[in-house]
Amino acid sequence: MASSPGSTPLAALLLLALFSASAASRFAPVDNHLIACGATGPAVLPDGRRFIPDTGCASMRLRSESSTLPTAAPNAPAAPSPLHAAARVFSCHASYDLAIRRRGHHVLRLHFYPFDATLASARFHVGAGGFLLLHNFTASSPVVKEFLLPVDTDVLALTFVPEAGSAAFVNAIELFSAPEELVGDIGTLVDGDDIIQTDGLSSQVFETLYRINVAGHKVTPFNDTLWRTWVNDEGFLVNKEASGSKAWSFGGRIAYPKGSKLMTREVAPDNVYNSARSVNSEGNLTWAFPVPAGNMYLVRMHFCDIVSKALYQLYFNIYVNGRQAVKDFDISGTTGYLAYPYYIDFVVDIEDEGLLEVAIGGSNMSRAGEVSGFLNAVEIMRMNQTGGGMDGDFPAILDMDYLFSKGIGEFARSLLCGLLFAGLFLVLVTLVVRLRTELKNNGTLWSRQSMDSGDGKLARAYQLVPTKTDY
Ligand SMILES: *[C@@H]1O[C@H](CO)[C@@H](O)[C@H](O)[C@H]1NC(C)=O
Ligand SMILES: *[C@@H]1O[C@H](CO)[C@@H](O)[C@H](O)[C@H]1NC(C)=O
Ligand SMILES: *[C@@H]1O[C@H](CO)[C@@H](O)[C@H](O)[C@H]1NC(C)=O
Ligand SMILES: *[C@@H]1O[C@H](CO)[C@@H](O)[C@H](O)[C@H]1NC(C)=O
Ligand SMILES: *[C@@H]1O[C@H](CO)[C@@H](O)[C@H](O)[C@H]1NC(C)=O
Repeated sequence: MASSPGSTPLAALLLLALFSASAASRFAPVDNHLIACGATGPAVLPDGRRFIPDTGCASMRLRSESSTLPTAAPNAPAAPSPLHAAARVFSCHASYDLAIRRRGHHVLRLHFYPFDATLASARFHVGAGGFLLLHNFTASSPVVKEFLLPVDTDVLALTFVPEAGSAAFVNAIELFSAPEELVGDIGTLVDGDDIIQTDGLSSQVFETLYRINVAGHKVTPFNDTLWRTWVNDEGFLVNKEASGSKAWSFGGRIAYPKGSKLMTREVAPDNVYNSARSVNSEGNLTWAFPVPAGNMYLVRMHFCDIVSKALYQLYFNIYVNGRQAVKDFDISGTTGYLAYPYYIDFVVDIEDEGLLEVAIGGSNMSRAGEVSGFLNAVEIMRMNQTGGGMDGDFPAILDMDYLFSKGIGEFARSLLCGLLFAGLFLVLVTLVVRLRTELKNNGTLWSRQSMDSGDGKLARAYQLVPTKTDY
């Protein structure tokens, strides 16, 4: 589908007007689908977010070849999260079509809480936007799968396909716009002895495998700017008793670069940057993470100098999978300030080791016996394979393009109906006023805003349907 740069600022303006009242300082994603699948009423999480049932949302549609069953957990009140009280079960191909207002990277979280034996043994595939996200997947224990995926269509079809004789299910779906600074295009490729710059990261799908807060407490969605979970690093430390290593915690203020478009609290929150582990000039600290072999990985290492009393005291080496990826890293020279966050994205190919190691080691450019280097956090993301699958090849049964084109025009119309039902005349009036204003400056705008052209393309106007309808 052709992109339409003209409508983006307009939509952004409108959204700004709609949401600025409630946004305060919290990140307010443009797209924000929070869906409690199979639920009969909204579910409110401890972090304040409100998930609405998959039957009552104007900007989302459930499409299926046969009936899908809402299923309630037998002991719903005892479920650890309100999202675990119900699920939707699919006996064949089914898709959630999710309206996208702003193209670009989105965070997708799929919650699986198998509350009975049928769900625990269900075997299925999940695809979205032409990518195979979960292949032959079984959720035998509760799990949340998180992906970061580029979306360049106006509707994202999230498709569930059961294996023959099995079922598919999901308890909850989160799909929200990622802040632009979260995904860069450039990384450092650590490939054998070559350390080279690589690009194209922004067109990959990433699956989060580990998110580690070094020497810090677990950070829950309540305390994270993007509702992420970060866990303590101790279980991954290889040499716990490494000489001269030390855990730090910081009570001061983390100084996010003022006005920076690249480094914000959304990249990682204070709770992650205010703890670290350090090594001295002779020391070495290694963390090891079991990972599926045969994939490329993005390793994001976060550094925020909360350990130095003055600038230019620290120089250290960074190792990725046993290779020296950065020699004598000078964090002060890079950031120019203390307590100032910074991260480096490494790309590494894990062929058959099944283990991904990151390490920091002291440099003899630091003073002997003194702190030489540190690490605050690590994120490990699996990248999609060449064929667009995360894990295995893209099977023909998941031909999302076919499914996608089949239902899309219809969805556009249902969205427009939803718009009217929601009674958002105010929005429409604002839209018309703004369109008129824009039209004066740009005579071609109306043609871009034209309704469904009949060949399955979506009308632009539906982009103004709100994500949430009120109950
Ligand atoms: C899924 O896994 C099962 C059991 O390991 C296997 O029998 C089946 O062939 C797999 N299906 C696909 C599509 O890979
Ligand atoms: C949020 O962070 C604060 C300060 O670090 C901590 O005291 C609190 O327990 C955290 N809350 C949750 C729900 O994790
Ligand atoms: C630290 O670990 C790396 C990678 O495991 C290794 O190459 C390096 O020689 C070690 N340095 C020291 C000082 O032990
Ligand atoms: C640091 O160590 C390396 C090898 O271990 C050596 O080649 C280099 O000269 C040393 N640098 C300093 C400043 O001592
Ligand atoms: C991931 O998928 C994209 C789009 O299909 C492709 O361009 C890219 O090469 C894939 N990534 C890898 C590491 O193969």
